Amino acid sequence: MKEWVQKENLHRHIAMIMDGNGRWAKRKRRPRLFGHRAGVETFKKIVRICSDMGIQVLTVYAFSTENWKRSEEEVSGLMSLALTYLKKYVAELHENNVVLKIIGDISKLNATLQKEILRSEAMTAQNTGMILQIALNYGGREELINAVKNMMLDGLKGSEITEKTLNGYLYTKNVPDPDMMIRTGGEKRLSNFLLWQNAYTEFFFTETLWPDFSKKELEEMIEAYTQRERRYGGIQ
Ligand code: FPP
Repeated sequence: MKEWVQKENLHRHIAMIMDGNGRWAKRKRRPRLFGHRAGVETFKKIVRICSDMGIQVLTVYAFSTENWKRSEEEVSGLMSLALTYLKKYVAELHENNVVLKIIGDISKLNATLQKEILRSEAMTAQNTGMILQIALNYGGREELINAVKNMMLDGLKGSEITEKTLNGYLYTKNVPDPDMMIRTGGEKRLSNFLLWQNAYTEFFFTETLWPDFSKKELEEMIEAYTQRERRYGGIQ
């Protein structure tokens, strides 16, 4: 086993922006959905790898609040990929002791998908292995607005609002903040992903398009992460 796998607390939570499916398909002169389908295959592989490595939480950005602006064909294609994924693979996740959570405003998703999400979450809720959070109709700003609204509905006083209380109103409540954020596909931005949670996260960018993202590259990033010194704004 590699040295970094044995170090404690160094790889508790990894977040990933799986970017580049469209360009990957374009290079092959295929439709964008062909790229997303290949993206799902890579996603399944990475889930297995992270779970085997003992990563505690993996959070991936599958569909953002801004992705509705894409063509009707692409949006419905992505929704149907999400539905097929849940239907076909939740049993495998369950066998691997993974806890599945969908983060985002699922009320805007179609009824069949919402039902499947609730079924999948319920099936895996008692598991004790890796927590897999899939962001679907997720936006960091929307998440924060939703949290503020709910704090007001619950009648919280200003003096009661702390980082801890706010954390408890986020979709990601009960999980630690990401230690690493990986973005494939060459862009170097956050795109409204986990705005609050990424305050002290270490970022890793790669030109590799998501369908080509490999175990080797992930291991290299984790190894590089262990070399970085995290000071959280202080001097240690
Ligand atoms: C970004 O690539 C990718 C997405 C918007 C979708 C990500 C979804 C997957 C990888 C599939 C995973 C799905 C499930 C159900 C977990 P892009 O289309 O923006 O690529 P481009 O920047 O090259 O156009």
